[in-house]
Amino acid sequence: MERTYRLRTLFDEAAIAARNEELAQSIVAATAPDLLVVAVLKGSFMFAADLIRALHRARAAPQVEFIHLSSYGSGTVSRGSVAILRDIESDVAGRDVLLVDDILESGRTLSFAKDLLMARGARRVFVAVLLEKANKRAVTIDPDFVGFPCPDVFVVGYGMDVAHNFRQLPFVGIVAHGQEEPDLFDGRDQ
Ligand code: IMP
Ligand code: MG
Repeated sequence: MERTYRLRTLFDEAAIAARNEELAQSIVAATAPDLLVVAVLKGSFMFAADLIRALHRARAAPQVEFIHLSSYGSGTVSRGSVAILRDIESDVAGRDVLLVDDILESGRTLSFAKDLLMARGARRVFVAVLLEKANKRAVTIDPDFVGFPCPDVFVVGYGMDVAHNFRQLPFVGIVAHGQEEPDLFDGRDQ
């Protein structure tokens, strides 16, 4: 049976699109022309796709790779170590690399990825995230490019999921709890 969720929009399509253009300008100004973009699957797929097209409009010609990382454990709290479920194919030695992810929270995922690419000889590893949750860091990592600061709530949409739902949404939303939340959008699971 189909369940209906109520979502509250946190960042809408227009705000995300405008911010992506700004991020692309900043990235082009800071990185080498032979930039390699590494999108961290799965959550970054939509952000990465839009950011890469914004980079094209900003006259960059990055190569694009994917790495699939997963925190051990399940649920909505990231804990423990990180596993490589699928690795990149390119040699990063001597290159500028831009890691792209959806959210920086504890920092474990991106810290692991950055250390991995530096250990493989990357010249510089930059980090771009759509959202940054402050005061949630378990390890030290400073993102170079941030779309938006994010409140300490669980967000979905624009690639991000809860239990494999909501990745398809073109905006970032908060799953509403309780009757008092405004009923701005009905999302349906598949
Ligand atoms: P961390 O920085 O290693 O703790 O983990 C960040 C990852 O946790 C992100 O790439 C997401 O996959 C996931 N994550 C953290 N917060 C949220 C959220 O609010 N919604 C959906 N996924 C989240
Ligand atoms: Mg992720």
